[in-house]
Amino acid sequence: MPASGWRQYEIEQRLHELLASDPPLHTGWPDTLWPVLPDKALSASRAAMSQFAHLNGFVKPSSLNVIEAELLAMVRDHLGVPEDGATTLTVGGTESNFLAVKGALFKARENGGVPGQPNMVIPETAHPSFDKASEELGIDVRRIAVGNEFRADPEAMANQIDENTVLLVASTPNYTHGTLDPVKELAALAQTHDLWFHIDACVGGCLLPALKRVAGESSTTPFDYPGVTSVSADLHKFGFTPTGISTLSVNSSELIRHHSFSIDVASSWPFRPYRRTGFTGSRSGAVLAGAWATLVALGRDGYEQIAQEIVSGADIFAKGLSTIAGFELVAPHESGIIVFTSTDPQCQIERVANVLERDGWPAMLAVSPPRLQFLLSPLPAHYYEEFIEAIRAAANEVRTGVAIDGAELTTYGA
Ligand SMILES: Cc1ncc(COP(=O)(O)O)c(C=O)c1O
Repeated sequence: MPASGWRQYEIEQRLHELLASDPPLHTGWPDTLWPVLPDKALSASRAAMSQFAHLNGFVKPSSLNVIEAELLAMVRDHLGVPEDGATTLTVGGTESNFLAVKGALFKARENGGVPGQPNMVIPETAHPSFDKASEELGIDVRRIAVGNEFRADPEAMANQIDENTVLLVASTPNYTHGTLDPVKELAALAQTHDLWFHIDACVGGCLLPALKRVAGESSTTPFDYPGVTSVSADLHKFGFTPTGISTLSVNSSELIRHHSFSIDVASSWPFRPYRRTGFTGSRSGAVLAGAWATLVALGRDGYEQIAQEIVSGADIFAKGLSTIAGFELVAPHESGIIVFTSTDPQCQIERVANVLERDGWPAMLAVSPPRLQFLLSPLPAHYYEEFIEAIRAAANEVRTGVAIDGAELTTYGA
């Protein structure tokens, strides 16, 4: 902390310098992890955040209460949460998934518990937040090998269910390959065994309903299948809101008690009764207002337009990639994530990643098997065309042998 406070211009100058020191990136991609925010979403959320920067979503003034209620109603509508269901706002997908695991465990306990150590059966492609929840809640994780196109294999998962299983998980999509698990079959499996079935739609929750509407599909929301108990959907991914907001929805409002906490005046806390749904205490009023502003700025048609742009971006990308010798998609595009690799032994994808990264392109290297993964964004066609040309040039550089050596695999999240 400085001995005396900085002037406003000094703060702004320092922040500006810090931002300018980030590695330069091509074509508007801010990083390799998140989609680019549409201008409309960015300006709406920035304005809302600056107005609500000082407010805490823990003890909400009435303005934030209205904002939260309207935000929840929009999310419930978008995800098709049943009339009797409920949605909780969280700070991110990790918290949303944690609450689902806790819900499954506590519900099982309430129903008499399981004879041994409780477990959850999840596809091997499910996000590590489930392992994190398992460690904190004392429940085993059974990660099951996936089947065709890296989708969960219902039969293999069924074989691992026993009397101690309390939860079954699917991802729409998984982050690793971008494919959708067979939700209908897994929901039926969960019903047969009377299990809590959670869909991790942290990545796809906001995008898929719009993608499906645009494609004219009749079933468009995750709660369309009976047997779905809960759905996590991040607003801060393909909802394009500021970072720090996700949702957990349950098919029945009575399940909310499993992820709520309260103590009353008669207990040992000498203050006031305390009640909180979700894991956190204080929450940013700015993020809440920023998320609300994003959703109202884009509207249903805005999300549908984005979905269309993402589909046409994926098409351009897939076609372009097929013109580079040895390059191919690892799985079909379904949900805003493209994963590709090189089958040419003279052109290892790890080295291509190195060249792309050196030149400021999004190049998220994934292992087993090696591949590149990136999130599509609602960008004009020429961005994708330029990216394809950059990949072609990187591949040529690798083939000629002058490319910089071995890509370094940094830890995801560190
Ligand atoms: C499928 C999936 N679930 C959960 C998460 C965790 O989300 P967060 O980083 O917001 O906690 C992620 C993050 O990438 C994810 O891809």
